[in-house]
Amino acid sequence: MENLPPYLFVEINNKIAEKRAKGEEVISFAIGDPDIPTPEHIINRLCQAAQDPANHRYPETAFLPELRKAIAEWYKRRFEVLLDADREVLPLIGAKEGIAHIALCFIDPGDIALVPDPAYPVYSISTMLAGGKPYYMPLAEESNFLPNLDAIPEDIVKKAKLLWLNYPNNPTGAVADLDFFNRVIQFAQRHDIAICHDGPYTEVSFDGYQPVSFMQVDGAKEAGVEFHSLSKSYNMTGWRIGMVVGNAEMIDALKRIKSNLDSGIPQAIQYAAIKALSGPQDCIQKHNATYQRRRDLIIDILNDIGLEAKPPKAGLYIWAKVPKGYTSVELANDLLDKVGVAVTPGIGYGSNGEGYVRLSLTIPDAGLVKGLSRLAGWQDSKNRFKAKK
Ligand SMILES: Cc1ncc(COP(=O)(O)O)c(C=O)c1O
Repeated sequence: MENLPPYLFVEINNKIAEKRAKGEEVISFAIGDPDIPTPEHIINRLCQAAQDPANHRYPETAFLPELRKAIAEWYKRRFEVLLDADREVLPLIGAKEGIAHIALCFIDPGDIALVPDPAYPVYSISTMLAGGKPYYMPLAEESNFLPNLDAIPEDIVKKAKLLWLNYPNNPTGAVADLDFFNRVIQFAQRHDIAICHDGPYTEVSFDGYQPVSFMQVDGAKEAGVEFHSLSKSYNMTGWRIGMVVGNAEMIDALKRIKSNLDSGIPQAIQYAAIKALSGPQDCIQKHNATYQRRRDLIIDILNDIGLEAKPPKAGLYIWAKVPKGYTSVELANDLLDKVGVAVTPGIGYGSNGEGYVRLSLTIPDAGLVKGLSRLAGWQDSKNRFKAKK
């Protein structure tokens, strides 16, 4: 417990809570949780399945075979990836649960996991909880937020058991192509490191861009696994369902850990997930059109007030540069104090997140309009920046 790092958003979260307790309205761009409801056909299936007493009991230990099949078929339709539904697919209680538990399978005390910085914090925390050490691979804008694997020292590579990657990326909004994944596979195989790719944002994309899956690369199944989720694709964060696919031995190991820790996913939710994956997919385009509209509005205002930001091709986040003279926490505090807008300081995602703040696209339209007009009124007092508008 002593080795766990402090939760870096505490200060700003406390401030938001204080303001709200005083009756002040805070507009939050800080939360990456879809505001759009789960599509109706999925909810209807959930309600129907909840009425069936067969689904009131412990779920089947190996999950519904229909769910594993639906996941395999979705990967085939979406990415032309062929998966064995029995051996290469495992449903999860959300991707986070699998990401946290896989460290217990492969990290012994003293082992290293290669973890991007900045990153979703669970990759490093799960490594630490298993007694291992994260080695942070910097993600820099100059390298399109892709890690430089050749820069990792040899003694670190020798001790590394897992390599974490996440594209489309949270928090930077960066994307990766198949060439990059191919290079990663070659590196990992040379050094006997298992790859864990986390891809929950492949369905959130803009301007016609289609993110790829790590599993599309030749050799991916030998080299590692991919975590995915229904959370962001179908606005199902609250239902807690995701999956891991790929290397059968890794999946078997995780299955063994999980069978001792949890009792599966409520079956009504598994039926809803089957409906989501095999039912109509037009909801995804509709959601993406909403996010794209919000993305463009936010980017315009940010650039106007001096927070340089490029439109991401995918994912739910804008990664905006902090103007000169501020740390990311100082800027987040200033925005909160002066205009009542909450953003996430980049340092919370790792030391290389310093210099940036993250804004989420999951803000309902009414809040968005208000938030944007407040942001437009923010003055950069340190650089005496004059808003262009
Ligand atoms: C990169 C990344 N991976 C995993 C997750 C967790 O997804 P799930 O809701 O499936 O647990 C998130 C959630 O924000 C995320 O940003």
